[in-house]
Amino acid sequence: MLIFSNILQIQNHLTKLKSEGSIIGFVPTMGALHDGHLSLIKKSISENDSTVVSIFVNPTQFDDSNDLLTYPKDIEKDIALIKSISENTVLFKPDSYEIYSGEIKSDEFNLNGLDKYMEGECRGNHFQGVATVVNKLLSIVKPDHVYFGEKDFQQLRIIENLVLDQKFDTKVVRCKTVRSSDGLALSSRNKKLSFSSAKIATNLFKALNFAKEKFNTLDAIEIEKKVIEQLSAHSEIQLEYFAIADEETLEPLLIKKNKKYRAFIAAYVSGVRLIDNKKLY
Ligand code: PAJ
Repeated sequence: MLIFSNILQIQNHLTKLKSEGSIIGFVPTMGALHDGHLSLIKKSISENDSTVVSIFVNPTQFDDSNDLLTYPKDIEKDIALIKSISENTVLFKPDSYEIYSGEIKSDEFNLNGLDKYMEGECRGNHFQGVATVVNKLLSIVKPDHVYFGEKDFQQLRIIENLVLDQKFDTKVVRCKTVRSSDGLALSSRNKKLSFSSAKIATNLFKALNFAKEKFNTLDAIEIEKKVIEQLSAHSEIQLEYFAIADEETLEPLLIKKNKKYRAFIAAYVSGVRLIDNKKLY
C-alpha cells in the first residue's frame, strides 16, 4: 500500500498509473473506518484497477467545534483495515494545510436547492464544506469512479449535483447502507454510544421501517405524527427531524406524484447525533 500526504506526490503517482491505462476508483472518508466504509472500498477494488482511499477530517463541514475535536481518529487501525482488504491501494491522508493552504474556509457552490431541507436546514454551512472538500479531492485524484454511501443520502445527491455542475469526468457510484444485525446504520459516531444507547438508537431504524410499512395506507403527515409519538417514549432520543422527501429533489412530500420517495431521520441519542434514511419503494 502506498501512502501519500502531499498533493503533488499523489498526482505524480496517479498520472503514471493512468498513463499505463489504469482505471481509478476513489473512496473519500474521514477515517475511523468501519464495515460501511470497507464495503465502499471493496466495491471500488472490484470495479477498478487501482483504488485511492482518502482520510481527511474536513474542518469546514463541522458546524460544532466540539464535534470536530471529538471526532474519532485511529489512523494506524485504519491503515491496517485497508491493508487487510488489499495491499494494492493508495491512501491519501493530507493535513488541513495541504488541502486549504492556510485559509480554512468553504467555497460557494450552487447546490440547486438540495441543501434546503433536513441536514442542510439543521447544519448551517455543512454541505458547502462537504462540496468544497469533495471538489478539491476530485480535482486532485480525477478518478473514473467515486464511491458514496446511501447512508448519507442528501450528501450523495449533493455530490451527484456537484459532479455534473463542475463537469468532472467521474461517475458517482451509489453504495447500499451497511447496518449491524439489529438494524443500526454503521457510523463512526456509533463509537461514542454506550452499549445501551446503541440499543436505543435502533428505534431510528424502526421508525424508518414503520414509515415504509405505512407509506401506502397513511399520509406523510400522519406517519410523521406517529413517529414523533413513538420516539417521544424514549427520553434518551431527541428527534431533530423526520421527513418523507422526493429522492431526487429532496423536497418534502406534499402530494404523492408517483415518484421515488425516501424517509429521512436525524436525532440525538444520549447526546450523539445520528442520521439514517430508507427508500419507500
Ligand atoms: P465519512 O462519514 O467518513 O463517510 C465516508 C463515506 O462512507 C460516505 O460516502 C458515507 O456515506 C459512507 N458510509 C458511512 N457509513 C456508511 C454505512 N453504514 N454504509 C454505507 N456507507 C457508509 O461522508 C463523509 O465521511 C464526508 O462527508 C466526506 C464525503 C469524506 C467529505 O469530507
